Amino acid sequence: MIKMQRKGLILAGGTGSRLYPLTIGTCKQLLPIYNKPMVYYPLTILMLAGIREILLITTPEDHKLFQRLLGDGNSWGISIKYEIQKTPAGLADAFIVGADFIRGHSAALILGDNLFYGDDLIAQLKYANEKTSGATIFGFPVSDPERYGVVEFDHDGYIKSIEEKPKKPKSNYAITGLYFYDKSIIDKALQVNPSVRGELEITDINRMYLKEGNLKIQLMGRGMAWLDTGTFESLNEAGSFIRTIENRQGLKIGCPEEVAWRNGWISDEKLFDLGSKMKKSDYGNYLLKLLINS
Ligand code: DAU
Repeated sequence: MIKMQRKGLILAGGTGSRLYPLTIGTCKQLLPIYNKPMVYYPLTILMLAGIREILLITTPEDHKLFQRLLGDGNSWGISIKYEIQKTPAGLADAFIVGADFIRGHSAALILGDNLFYGDDLIAQLKYANEKTSGATIFGFPVSDPERYGVVEFDHDGYIKSIEEKPKKPKSNYAITGLYFYDKSIIDKALQVNPSVRGELEITDINRMYLKEGNLKIQLMGRGMAWLDTGTFESLNEAGSFIRTIENRQGLKIGCPEEVAWRNGWISDEKLFDLGSKMKKSDYGNYLLKLLINS
């Protein structure tokens, strides 16, 4: 039997109003994180998981900007399609907006402003992508869990409850903006009703999987980073973090060309071509150096 490939969604809409005036002329997910547009980081997370068919969901105002940056994905050995979310109706809305694209497939959703980095990351992503039934979410310890979806564990380490932005969090484990779901996801999303804040909450979808006994959580430990980009401070810190690691290691984080090449999705010739087009920038030179050092 041929295994159906999981499809990927990047949710890159919203108003970005917490970052005004930075996001008046462009959108949050296109702001720079050191040397790359923010959306490169979540995109490469999906690619590292092994996902090649991706739908980017964005606003009516911004979709042209994303298309100009990312195109159809062909030069990175992937396929990128686009869909518009007319209003920010909530994260669960991504599966309704993207229903035609994912129908019949399992799906992974990543928020276009979520940045991950760490040693064990690729193994965790591949493991989650291999699972064809149920849902996998990721838990990350934070000092301010009340800002996120929060998971409560029982004595055996199983998930007991999930709450969205609880005033009194039952653990310090936030649920990150990366979700792997089986193909029942569209049906589940259609059952979600708007919350008090008027949004279709992803937490309600996770609760449905929990009730069925089909929700798994993978915990990200101390060796991992899940970076916030929601304020001027955290945006700047995320850029500094990437800069520090990249400069120390001489390796780039969130570089789609490199991931495509290492995954065997593009040839040496293609990488050379991509690097040559940007050879006036350090980024382009990095791509060319990958070939010399290989
Ligand atoms: O970052 C992880 C958190 O994301 C989870 O812990 C929460 O459970 C989940 O609800 C969500 O929390 P926020 O309420 O903080 O998400 P926010 O409204 O900030 O939206 C996250 C990103 O998704 C943001 O860049 C804007 C974009 N977005 C948001 C909504 C509601 C859309 O593109 N469309 C939307 O409809």
